[in-house]
Amino acid sequence: MSNSNSVDFGTKKVDADKKTRLVDDVFKKVAHRYDIMNDLISLGSHRLLKKMAVQMCGAREGQTILDLAGGTGDISALLAPIVGKNGQIVLSDINPQMINVGRERLLNAGKAQVAFCQNAAEQLPFPNEIFDTILIAFGLRNFTDKRKSLAEALRVLKPNGILLILEFSHPHNPKLKTAYNAFQSFWPLVGELVAGERESYEYLVESIEKHPKQKALKLMMEDTGFVSVEYHDLIGGICSIHRGYKG
Ligand SMILES: C[S@@+](CC[C@H](N)C(=O)[O-])C[C@H]1O[C@@H](n2cnc3c(N)ncnc32)[C@H](O)[C@@H]1O
Repeated sequence: MSNSNSVDFGTKKVDADKKTRLVDDVFKKVAHRYDIMNDLISLGSHRLLKKMAVQMCGAREGQTILDLAGGTGDISALLAPIVGKNGQIVLSDINPQMINVGRERLLNAGKAQVAFCQNAAEQLPFPNEIFDTILIAFGLRNFTDKRKSLAEALRVLKPNGILLILEFSHPHNPKLKTAYNAFQSFWPLVGELVAGERESYEYLVESIEKHPKQKALKLMMEDTGFVSVEYHDLIGGICSIHRGYKG
């Protein structure tokens, strides 16, 4: 059953509050195996895609950057040597278990310029216009209210600041899509064997299918107020990078 407050949780329609709890539960359960699972189901390619995203965000020494839905900290780890000791990175995420894994990893690696903050992307606890750049890597798809989150990102960005979104997307070539679907059909089994979590990886596959297509996400960013929005397909559209600016 659906009502005006219902949102997608994978292929199900659920109440918005319930989606937040369900997504939180997914990441609570997979946090301890999240990094190894990423390597397995992407055959390691997520590392390269994250490097590309960081390169495309144009981060510079001394900047203040928000790693939104930063999870276990891959993006923050790549950004830390770029912004250097005079810069500041804030890893913000709704899920305490994911943050804990990230905090331990980054502190052990000596990335002292990363601060951690637990909160929802829909309601950021930051003043207006403090970040030079915001990155969201594989997070947007999970947000309960994507438009509200994008509006919050716009609010906390400095004028001319950049929002960069790396996310699963939709391949254009039907043969690639068929092969990719076949590959994805193994993810729940891998999730069960490696993380003891079949359902969470079923949600992953469904959430990718339900995520807006490339052009729809570009329009959503423009509707929110981002300017000069463009996107780049990666691996034939299996993933995409969307980049927009605060005018
Ligand atoms: C697939 S992980 C991505 C983590 C990391 N950015 C990466 O690329 O490896 C998605 C992250 O989004 C977070 N998340 C989900 N819903 C959120 C929300 N409404 N606000 C903030 N973070 C959220 C989850 O807790 C999880 O850590």
